[in-house]
Amino acid sequence: MEIDGSHVLVAGATGAIGTALSAELASRGARLALAGRDPGRLARAARTHGAAATAVFDAYDPGSCASAVHRAAEELGGLDAVVTVFGTVAFGTAPSVGDEVAEHLLAVNALAPAAFLRAALGTLRDGGAIAAVTGVVAERPMPGMADYSASKAALGAWLDAVRRETRPRGVQVLDIRFGHLDTGFADRPVAGTAPPLPPGGDLGAAVRAVADALHSGADRVVTAPDGTYAPERHAR
Ligand SMILES: NC(=O)c1ccc[n+]([C@@H]2O[C@H](COP(=O)([O-])OP(=O)(O)OC[C@H]3O[C@@H](n4cnc5c(N)ncnc54)[C@H](OP(=O)(O)O)[C@@H]3O)[C@@H](O)[C@H]2O)c1
Repeated sequence: MEIDGSHVLVAGATGAIGTALSAELASRGARLALAGRDPGRLARAARTHGAAATAVFDAYDPGSCASAVHRAAEELGGLDAVVTVFGTVAFGTAPSVGDEVAEHLLAVNALAPAAFLRAALGTLRDGGAIAAVTGVVAERPMPGMADYSASKAALGAWLDAVRRETRPRGVQVLDIRFGHLDTGFADRPVAGTAPPLPPGGDLGAAVRAVADALHSGADRVVTAPDGTYAPERHAR
């Protein structure tokens, strides 16, 4: 996908990764629509990035996720890519996390991104892309993060299957598997307390890798053991 002049919806644009990715895409000439759950924070993000449209969504309301996609497509005059960068985490053993929090993680981290991307598949212009931040836990589930890992693995599996469905249409399906980044995300869990974590990766390098991957048509962005980010093709 040519980023310069493209129309991109960033869902979760008020977060740290969403902010950095929006800035990176705007600097490469993308025209942005931004989605978030908080109208005030969303308006500030839109001003920062010169976004052409905004839409508020509720992760528990898949209709609001689809409406955000349709509104962005209308306001921008078509969409080339939809990227989901929102999510939440909980820490603790599986019994301590419990069913209610587990359900919350699945709703916010798997079902809501899928609702955005499902709507995008019916809306994207030819040669478009859908993308979502999952994480290394999607392939290496972590103790003390069982339900967070499961929610990210669920989204990763959904992306893998949809990639095979949509390959004949030429739609890019990008799974962004970042390792730990010092964005403060781990300090904002819905339950529990983060264990000691290694130093975080370079957020600037991470979002540049996503923009490069959208440009090159990669299937995944993976985090190498040395903390660098690499595109992967034909993941399955
Ligand atoms: N940071 C890392 O180490 C890391 C590594 C791998 C993957 N990830 C993934 O990257 C994504 C963003 O993380 P981040 O580092 O940018 O963290 P962040 O700054 O805390 O951003 C989290 C984003 O998710 C939104 N969000 C949280 N709960 C939500 C809900 N119930 N409904 C709708 N939106 C909700 C937040 O909205 P508000 O601004 O309104 O709070 C914010 O936009 C997450 O999916 C995370 O799993 C992060």
